[in-house]
Amino acid sequence: MNGGGKNLSDILLVGKGFLGQKIYSLYCNDYKIKTAGITEGNDFFLDITNPEQCLKVIRKANPLAIVLTASLSGVDYCEKHSREAFAVNAVGPKNIVNAVREFNPAIKLVFFSTDYVFDGQKGNYDENDMPNPLGVYAKSKLKGERESMKADDFLILRLSTLYGFNSPKDKQTFTRMIIENLSIGEKVFASKQITSPTFIDDAAKATIKLIEKKECGIFHVAGPKAFSRGDWARKVAWAFGLNESLIEEVESVPGQIAPRPKNSSLNIGKLLETGIKMHSSTESLLLMKEQMEKEGVI
Ligand SMILES: NC(=O)c1ccc[n+]([C@@H]2O[C@H](COP(=O)([O-])OP(=O)(O)OC[C@H]3O[C@@H](n4cnc5c(N)ncnc54)[C@H](OP(=O)(O)O)[C@@H]3O)[C@@H](O)[C@H]2O)c1
Repeated sequence: MNGGGKNLSDILLVGKGFLGQKIYSLYCNDYKIKTAGITEGNDFFLDITNPEQCLKVIRKANPLAIVLTASLSGVDYCEKHSREAFAVNAVGPKNIVNAVREFNPAIKLVFFSTDYVFDGQKGNYDENDMPNPLGVYAKSKLKGERESMKADDFLILRLSTLYGFNSPKDKQTFTRMIIENLSIGEKVFASKQITSPTFIDDAAKATIKLIEKKECGIFHVAGPKAFSRGDWARKVAWAFGLNESLIEEVESVPGQIAPRPKNSSLNIGKLLETGIKMHSSTESLLLMKEQMEKEGVI
């Protein structure tokens, strides 16, 4: 990917959270990746809500592609902090696009969105289906999509319920909560909500492969099968050898305040047509188990 120019990086990875960390660890040896974000340990400090900082960092990194995983992704947090959600999820990408257009419009922008842009009435959504977001997080992400589309060369990758393992410091996901609760004999409450659980290793690989293939536009990047939260919890229990009788299906989970789409599962036909493969849920969960065992986490 590298053009070989002085100070030229292949990728500016903005946000080294759950997915960003995986992209970095899988590809930092193959590509010249610079990282930017609001926490320590990045090559550049960057708060994407600040337009001047966006331009300064992009100028310094001089990348061929920007992989923008930075986001406020807590659905209930966003519902309570609407202004902050729109600042990061919508104004953030707008600032990045403006900086790209000013510095070098040829830079490719990869923005990550969500299955929550759909209202969940239909399920199995493809890229031509009309979004109709229900909550603040979803609305802010759709606005982020619209801003990202203003880049000359953009990829919008819609993901769904990420799971996987980087390190014990990973943020709490639904899947990690299932493993932790069942391991200590605690109940798991699971709603009937249907999504397409997505293995972060596959999401990370699909991201880089789509860049390598010079694809652009919107792609659904998700697991190959739809699961209700309850069915997913039982699948995780099976893969990790845990007691599924502690899983309780409920109408709504206590503490969830943001509206959730009933069935926001994603159709990944367009992605598969590019030749990119996604592991089955069984393969992915067993790989995740292996990774956690290797690190001594379970
Ligand atoms: N997690 C899911 O289940 C899921 C499902 C569908 C779609 N998605 C989408 O996938 C993408 C990645 O999700 P994720 O789970 O990896 O998110 P995450 O773990 O919450 O990471 C997001 C990162 O954003 C960075 N960040 C937050 N505010 C920032 C700001 N103002 N300026 C710069 N960086 C900022 C932080 O990076 P640093 O702390 O490293 O600086 C944080 O670690 C997001 O766009 C999300 O909407 C996620």
